[in-house]
Amino acid sequence: WPKDVGILALEVYFPAQYVDQTDLEKFNNVEAGKYTVGLGQTRMGFCSVQEDINSLCLTVVQRLMERIKLPWDAVGRLEVGTETIIDKSKAVKTVLMDLFRDSGNTDIEGIDTTNACYGGTASLFNAANWMESSYWDGRYALVVCGDIAVYPNGNARPTGGAGAVAMLIGPKAPLVLEQGLRGTHMENAYDFYKPNLASEYPLVDGKLSIQCYLRALDRCYAAYRKKIQNQWKQAGNNQPFTLDDVQYMIFHTPFCKMVQKSLARLMLSDFLSSGSDTKNDLYKGLEAFRGLKLEETYTNKDVDKALLKASLDMFNKKTKASLYLSTNNGNMYTSSLYGCLASLLAHHSAQELAGSRIGAFSYGSGLAASFFSFRVSKDASPGSPLEKLVSSVSDLPKRLDSRRRMSPEEFTEIMNQREQFFHKVNFSPPGDTSNLFPGTWYLERVDEMHRRKYARRP
Ligand code: CAA
Repeated sequence: WPKDVGILALEVYFPAQYVDQTDLEKFNNVEAGKYTVGLGQTRMGFCSVQEDINSLCLTVVQRLMERIKLPWDAVGRLEVGTETIIDKSKAVKTVLMDLFRDSGNTDIEGIDTTNACYGGTASLFNAANWMESSYWDGRYALVVCGDIAVYPNGNARPTGGAGAVAMLIGPKAPLVLEQGLRGTHMENAYDFYKPNLASEYPLVDGKLSIQCYLRALDRCYAAYRKKIQNQWKQAGNNQPFTLDDVQYMIFHTPFCKMVQKSLARLMLSDFLSSGSDTKNDLYKGLEAFRGLKLEETYTNKDVDKALLKASLDMFNKKTKASLYLSTNNGNMYTSSLYGCLASLLAHHSAQELAGSRIGAFSYGSGLAASFFSFRVSKDASPGSPLEKLVSSVSDLPKRLDSRRRMSPEEFTEIMNQREQFFHKVNFSPPGDTSNLFPGTWYLERVDEMHRRKYARRP
């Protein structure tokens, strides 16, 4: 099989407009700090009525392919992970095939994968599995994940966002998926789901969703730990695995505070599984919790407080940088985790990252979750694949700053328009294209047979 399969290149797309969370706090009449401090959110990107999931994915794939100048016939698999469903049968992937038309390349496996925010990770696993199988034909795979995260007026609305990430998957990658190391947890839960096909909005049980996320994190981490320790044991190493063995840690990010608490939980998990004789300075302040069961701590505020304090230094070193896009753009559902990866790369040099392990936790409500990891290549020399990957995302902060700030009134008006126009036929979305970044694909027309036509802003 090919060696070192993983991420070779990556592209991020987010809308060109946002609403500030401080403005939203005032507009929604909630206490100052609830969204910005309590949830850890700064700005929220949102789409105009001219954008849908197809246009987001068209844009991010086109941007990636143009930037890396890869011939369209060099792609043998294209996977899409999304939960933004506008058609119960026709895959977003089929729309993306338009981009390949001129190349004549139609021999491209892969379709859409859906389970809430987990679809992007399932797509990544599918692509890697293909490449490590007898069906691989020597070409690259593209993994695309994207979503429009919108909620009705209410307490979930500030946890929205929108965006897409495209990743080129191939051998000899600078970010290698570590083989044999996936800890997965799946169960049946109604924490967040979308049974109403006439609406873009999910049904959410917010508090339950947080417990489900944390339970899945605990289980996946334990499964991953077991697998990596088994690998180590076979190589003659009997050390326990802890967060010390992960230099950077990224998470699916519904809101940033959730991630800070999640890293803290991993620390608790290490502490509780470390045995009673541990005299590690790292766990100072946690002694009172020795003997607790993880599942007894989900709503315990004392545990929360002590953990956040004990893990602050670790959070600043391992995770904080990965939250840049999330705090400034919001939840991107399937692409959230990969947006965190891009943010992490944008805030570190290739030298800093070289040789490290990046742990990743992917969560999709309903629920499906995995803990897995990337090994970063050791070669950070100028022109190396790692250095190229890192420099390709270095303009992320500048791009985010170039967006247009909209008022909560304008944001609400656009949300109302999206409700009104969702699934409308024989219609062209109103508005000009000046609220889109140059080069963005947008929805031009939906005909009376629900067929969608797209155009690209010059
Ligand atoms: N200053 C500082 N902090 C404040 C504050 C203020 N003035 N006012 C409130 N806060 C804090 C609260 O104390 C709370 O923090 P702690 O939990 O640490 O105590 C935080 O702000 C949020 O306040 P509430 O818990 O009162 O917020 P809420 O109940 O109104 O809504 C929510 C929060 C439940 C997450 C809601 O936004 C929601 O339902 N969001 C969508 C669901 C979601 O994101 N779930 C996450 C897990 S599921 C998942 O990951 C899948 C996915 O992508 C959706």
